[in-house]
Amino acid sequence: MRNIEMKMLLIHIFTLISISSGARILGVIPTPSFSHQTVFWPIWKELSLRGHNVTVITTDPMNNPYLRNLTEINIQESYTIWRPLYESVKSANNPILINERLQSIFQTISKFVLTHTEVAALLQNETVFDLVMVEAQYPELLIFGEIYECPTVMLRSLDAFSETHEAMGNSIHPIMNPDLNVPHFRELDFKARLISTTYYWYQQLLGFPRYMSKRNKIIREYFGNDAPDIRQMLDKVSLLFLNIHPALHGVRLTGPNTIQFGGSVHIRDPQPLPKDLKTYLDTAAEGVVYFSLGSNVLSANLKASQFDAIIQALGELPYKVLWKYELDDIPHKPQNIKFFKWFPQQDVLRHPNIRAFVTQGGLQSLEEAIYCHVPVVVLPFATDQQQNAKKVEYKQIGKVIYHKSSGINKVELKNAIIEVIENTSYRENMKILAELLTDEPMSGVEKVIWWTEYVIRHKGAKHLRNPSLDVPFYQYFMLDIIAFWTVTFILLLLLVVVACQITNPFLSSAIGCMKCKKE
Ligand SMILES: *[C@@H]1O[C@H](CO)[C@@H](O)[C@H](O)[C@H]1NC(C)=O
Ligand SMILES: *[C@@H]1O[C@H](CO)[C@@H](O)[C@H](O)[C@H]1NC(C)=O
Ligand SMILES: *[C@@H]1O[C@H](CO)[C@@H](O)[C@H](O)[C@H]1NC(C)=O
Ligand SMILES: *[C@@H]1O[C@H](CO)[C@@H](O)[C@H](O)[C@H]1NC(C)=O
Repeated sequence: MRNIEMKMLLIHIFTLISISSGARILGVIPTPSFSHQTVFWPIWKELSLRGHNVTVITTDPMNNPYLRNLTEINIQESYTIWRPLYESVKSANNPILINERLQSIFQTISKFVLTHTEVAALLQNETVFDLVMVEAQYPELLIFGEIYECPTVMLRSLDAFSETHEAMGNSIHPIMNPDLNVPHFRELDFKARLISTTYYWYQQLLGFPRYMSKRNKIIREYFGNDAPDIRQMLDKVSLLFLNIHPALHGVRLTGPNTIQFGGSVHIRDPQPLPKDLKTYLDTAAEGVVYFSLGSNVLSANLKASQFDAIIQALGELPYKVLWKYELDDIPHKPQNIKFFKWFPQQDVLRHPNIRAFVTQGGLQSLEEAIYCHVPVVVLPFATDQQQNAKKVEYKQIGKVIYHKSSGINKVELKNAIIEVIENTSYRENMKILAELLTDEPMSGVEKVIWWTEYVIRHKGAKHLRNPSLDVPFYQYFMLDIIAFWTVTFILLLLLVVVACQITNPFLSSAIGCMKCKKE
């Protein structure tokens, strides 16, 4: 008896020590995309500063020697897989094809992670983790949670795909919340509803089951036939963290296990601009248009016709232009355009002489524009950029050039830039939206930290799981109850008819009469 009490006490003390001295956290964020990775930087930083021992598998390590409790496993080689495959996504123009290609990228990257030597070394070491955090589009990598026998959470630097929301029990209605791959948002017309709903059915009936079986195969390949099914691993996920905010991304019915931390997580404190850039911006009283297609849509991959239309439109503007361009040979440079290979984008957008931002519509660029109240002109190329473009239109914070089928029209682009600058309503709407995104009880990072430690403290969050995930289909849609009442009603009706026939002479004579007539 005493012995057991003693043991319990020791376990209790041990748990207290292990929690107060910090948990061991493994983050698995394999997508080779700078802007996506930077969303998580402040989270790893803050978790490690709070005394947790954080290990992150990432393509863009911070390499900050001050963060002593952060170990970064660098898998940047996966950029070489991503780049050519991303081009294939850019060239796809229907949601089914886009998703097919994205799915194949995700699977390729998963395999890359599982075969990476340093990841293999980590798995070989006798490391223990108290929590595993996995990027949501790689559900097969939840296997780390099985290996370390600890709770898991999923996270994403943007909204999740429908299959992830579905796994958490959230609503995935194709009209209210079209999937990220569907280029529509709110006030869908008939064609948009047709596309979104057809995509939804296609995914439900064919898409999801196929991807699931492919991803299960990956797990079996590396961990043997006894490896758990992805469905089982998804069922154990405690929380889903998403870098979204209802004021920008719209409202979705979600359970308490989905934490929306979006708005301005990756926005950092202002830093002084490099001297040449600062002089250029300070002396541009006429205003500056900032042009950047982000880190995934490279200038080198622009078609000649696209490049010509853009450079002509920008060259004719009555403003100066800063263009993020990664190549050296620029054929004919208009006077008003200055090219740089890289910009400290947040600090550039903060400069008061910046009047407009021409962007591909990636979420992080959009968030920075909103935060700095700079109206945008969106040239959407791929993935969520097309839906983000619709959000920009819906919120009236900028204009969109839909160019995927028709090419970029020089005059249209030029007019759109002038319009968002001259019509001040775009900048005012930006300001209103920025206030909505930042007026929160706690910052996005604080929210993620708080909920992460919550999962660690309680060893999961089963009690927050949506009960709809645990009842069979027929119960959820009340099919058995509907059947019960239908049968009961019919029986009652029959009973009434029979009873009437027996008790009501008029009715029985009437029925009898009908019979007579028939005969
Ligand atoms: C590292 O973690 C310890 C607790 O394990 C904490 O006291 C310390 O402040 C952390 N240091 C840094 C630089 O993150
Ligand atoms: C923190 O985690 C790393 C990687 O898993 C491990 O090598 C290191 O020993 C851990 N440090 C502490 C203080 O537990
Ligand atoms: C695994 O352990 C070795 C030796 O203890 C250490 O040098 C190495 O950094 C560890 N690797 C990881 C990924 O934790
Ligand atoms: C400015 O833009 C808004 C939003 O698109 C529009 O409703 C308004 O009519 C425009 N104002 C002018 C003066 O063009």
